[in-house]
Amino acid sequence: MSIDLKYLDFFIKATEQAAIGASRFIGKKDKIAADKGAVDPMRSELNKIHMKGTIVIGEGEMDEAPMLYIGEKLGTLNGPEFDIAVDPLEGTKFTANNEPNAFSVLAVSEKGGLLSAPDTYMEKIVIGSNLPENLMDIDNGVEKNLRLLAEAKNKKISDLCACVLKRPRHDNIIRELNKIGVKINYITDGDIAGALSVIGDNPKNDIYYGTGGGPEGVIVAAALSCYGAQIQGRLVLDDKEMIRAKKLGITDFNKKYDIKDMVKGDIIFCATGVTSGDLAKGVKDLGDKFEVNTFVLHKSQKIIKSVINTYNK
Ligand code: FBP
Repeated sequence: MSIDLKYLDFFIKATEQAAIGASRFIGKKDKIAADKGAVDPMRSELNKIHMKGTIVIGEGEMDEAPMLYIGEKLGTLNGPEFDIAVDPLEGTKFTANNEPNAFSVLAVSEKGGLLSAPDTYMEKIVIGSNLPENLMDIDNGVEKNLRLLAEAKNKKISDLCACVLKRPRHDNIIRELNKIGVKINYITDGDIAGALSVIGDNPKNDIYYGTGGGPEGVIVAAALSCYGAQIQGRLVLDDKEMIRAKKLGITDFNKKYDIKDMVKGDIIFCATGVTSGDLAKGVKDLGDKFEVNTFVLHKSQKIIKSVINTYNK
């Protein structure tokens, strides 16, 4: 089974409208308003689609997020059952500060095709396509993983590039990478784009290494699955978060999730730029219209494309 191609444009419209909504807050120094600017139109577009949609990755759980919460039902409830992972605004800080790489993103699977994870941190290792399955293991440690990767890619370890989110919690990873001579490309935020920098014809990085949002991890996994690329992730849970995870059906709190544990079957992935970045150009204000640019994947249709649309104001 696969997701009918006719749904693609509807989901693209959902991230396009969310990106336009968020773009009104570019440079306004208000992360929360920018996020809400994206959430409301995304929700309203998703509700127009003839589907029985369920949010499995969202803005949080029901008691803490007013909209697009995990478990929320969306669509006209007439049509196929889809699971939907959303990050209406990835890069709230980028938007608030008018910096590159903010976008609106979602991933769609058939029912049961995406892991439902709470809004907690996740340790992640991401590598590109055409590599042995399950090559990386979080418990190997940095040095062993990088040596395995160099061997599999037939590269010198000093020719490898790693993308790392600049945070104090990554000091050990950075120390290890420096010790073995791996080049590091830092990002200040936005680990969806960071993780996806390992895919494509001429990827900027060989590996993404570090701890970021769990929801972002599942959304990345959806995109990676369209390329035959890989991720391993492990949720980072304190006592309270374990209770939340349990409610979502997670019982093994130390489980290392490989891509097949996170994503099953067909996927649609859409990311519309808010500010210009690696995946898509930002929203352009043409006076009477907005021009929007979306990076689109549809696994079963083997679609990898960029779509430009305009909307009257
Ligand atoms: P938001 O845009 O939702 O704030 O997320 C940005 C982000 O950088 C994610 O890409 C990343 O997974 C997470 O925040 C990292 O969290 P933290 O800033 O707490 O280290």
